Amino acid sequence: MKGRVIGIMSFKGGVGKSVSAINLAAGLCKLGKRVLVVDGNFLSPSLHFYLGLLVPEKTLKEVVRGEVGVDSAIYEHKSGIHLLPCNFYKKIDLGKFKKIVDNLRGRYDYIIMDSGPSYTDEIIAILMVCDELIFVATPDYPTLAATVKAAKIAEYKGVQVRGIIVNRKRKGLGLKVGDIEKTVGLSVVAEVPEDVKMIKAVEKFVPVVGAYRWSRSAKVFLDLSKEILESVD
Ligand SMILES: Nc1ncnc2c1ncn2[C@@H]1O[C@H](COP(=O)(O)OP(=O)(O)O)[C@@H](O)[C@H]1O
Ligand SMILES: [Mg+2]
Repeated sequence: MKGRVIGIMSFKGGVGKSVSAINLAAGLCKLGKRVLVVDGNFLSPSLHFYLGLLVPEKTLKEVVRGEVGVDSAIYEHKSGIHLLPCNFYKKIDLGKFKKIVDNLRGRYDYIIMDSGPSYTDEIIAILMVCDELIFVATPDYPTLAATVKAAKIAEYKGVQVRGIIVNRKRKGLGLKVGDIEKTVGLSVVAEVPEDVKMIKAVEKFVPVVGAYRWSRSAKVFLDLSKEILESVD
């Protein structure tokens, strides 16, 4: 097994990176794959809150520091996905982080890597370990500008980008898919609607794929998961 590492990225906060990471992981898991989701937002980690793990005792931070083995920092969620959470970690050791993620490739089909919103060392770490990136954007100009910047950096660093998840799409509002694609030079791989089920799922500490599997947003993440499986397997 040689797991593929997919980074979820946007240089903007609150656009839906973490929920996309969790739901993509849950979608791939539902399709029978072994999936680990890693909190790569080292400066403001929060992935564990979305999965009901309010105070993770052992995290990626302690693993990178060599204080604990990786197994004691991996938690299994009832949806089937595995989580490697993080604690606030200012200066991560890039080499050790890469080694740990590379070792985990042997145990998972997919490693979904969440990330923070600022272009700092932590983004360099994410770019170093990912086989591909998926950007997340809301359909507005400030986020579009941030996505253009992210696309330039990915290209400069030579990391493949699958495309853009447009999140919180409301009918008749916001930038059009064609305009986003033309401006960024990447294709939109999923359009996730503004969906109250997404908020309910966050409250229940579960992915929308699963708890609300018939919802519109769950369907989009399942479709994207299928597309990923078909393109790589
Ligand atoms: N499609 C959506 N519909 C409704 N609410 C959403 C949607 N996507 C995200 N949200 C809400 O926005 C919040 C922020 O999303 P999050 O994934 O934490 O953003 P980021 O990781 O980019 O900072 C979530 O807690 C969720 O409640
Ligand atoms: Mg986040």
